[in-house]
Amino acid sequence: MEEKKRALSGIKPTGNLTLGNYIGALREFKKFQDDYESFIFIADLHALTLPIDPIFLKNNTKDIVAFYIAAGLDPEKTTIFLQSDVSAHSELNTILVNYLYMGELSRMTQFKDKSQKMNNEAIGLGLFAYPVLMAADILLYNADVVPVGEDQTQHVELCRDLVHRFNQRYQKEVFVMPKAITPKVGARIMSLSDPTRKMSKSDPKGDIFLKDDLNIIRKKIMSAVTDTGNEIKYDPENKPGISNLLTIYAALSNITVEQAEKQFEGCTQYGVFKKAVADKVIEEIGPFQQRYKEILASGKIDEILSEGARRASYIANKTLRKVKKTVGLYVHDSK
Ligand code: AMP
Ligand code: TRP
Repeated sequence: MEEKKRALSGIKPTGNLTLGNYIGALREFKKFQDDYESFIFIADLHALTLPIDPIFLKNNTKDIVAFYIAAGLDPEKTTIFLQSDVSAHSELNTILVNYLYMGELSRMTQFKDKSQKMNNEAIGLGLFAYPVLMAADILLYNADVVPVGEDQTQHVELCRDLVHRFNQRYQKEVFVMPKAITPKVGARIMSLSDPTRKMSKSDPKGDIFLKDDLNIIRKKIMSAVTDTGNEIKYDPENKPGISNLLTIYAALSNITVEQAEKQFEGCTQYGVFKKAVADKVIEEIGPFQQRYKEILASGKIDEILSEGARRASYIANKTLRKVKKTVGLYVHDSK
């Protein structure tokens, strides 16, 4: 029997998850669980790279496990786990910090964006080294594919550079070359209040949160910023607001943006179009929220995480051993 390829991805439990996370990542994950050996985790160590309230972090972590399952992940098929439960992530990180360089790390867009607003004296080393830990996450599982939204592809590219460098240095295929996979529609959902900016968890204005009351979701969509025209056309340059709404509609309808455009051909009222988008989002998020609540109430989260940690650790530790041997650390029998 041919071995299945591996898929791996994660979400960090920082802010409240948004419709951008849902379309760009969360809802993509389940597409891999049948044909790939699939690992989906919570990047809780990454969440510490910016100051975060401990109680919020803990509760949000449990929420995301429930979101994963509500989005269709089956813990029997997909290994769901916490990054902090598998110590191999931190151990491989400690090795890999020596194989990625200050120059390349300082050029990462996410680092530049996040550190720009901060005082230089207060930028944590973890924020700077963020892609190193992310590379450890990916490489421990020999992931072939990494489903992410567009903003994370640069980090996966850097991980690919690292694989080249490392395998070349030791003249062995130690690591598998991973590939980022972004959704065809909706790899970058924009803010509803400023459609030139990405919808992000740390920017509450213009975001749709997955836990928002359905009435609030409708209100946010109905008051989304648009242009002064009246045509429903995909034109991100001149009509960023309408283009973003069309993208959301198309993604959730599993159609292309062109097909969505066709559906609204001749519609000259933004209000009518926005109502259709709101209906579509609510049709999807309503049942999703229901499932999320049931899972949290079921009390099964801890059990799922324990089993996930066990399965993930087994694979991660095997890779870690191989890396240790490769670089010359003395791996010996311990009794
Ligand atoms: P993060 O919230 O940064 O942990 O992101 C988790 C996943 O959601 C990553 O794969 C991101 O690329 C994806 N993502 C975050 N924001 C968006 C967005 N506005 N549009 C599409 N994907 C997104
Ligand atoms: N950096 C990712 C994000 O912010 C989360 C993440 C951490 C991740 N490690 C990963 C995603 C490994 C894919 C693979 O969205």
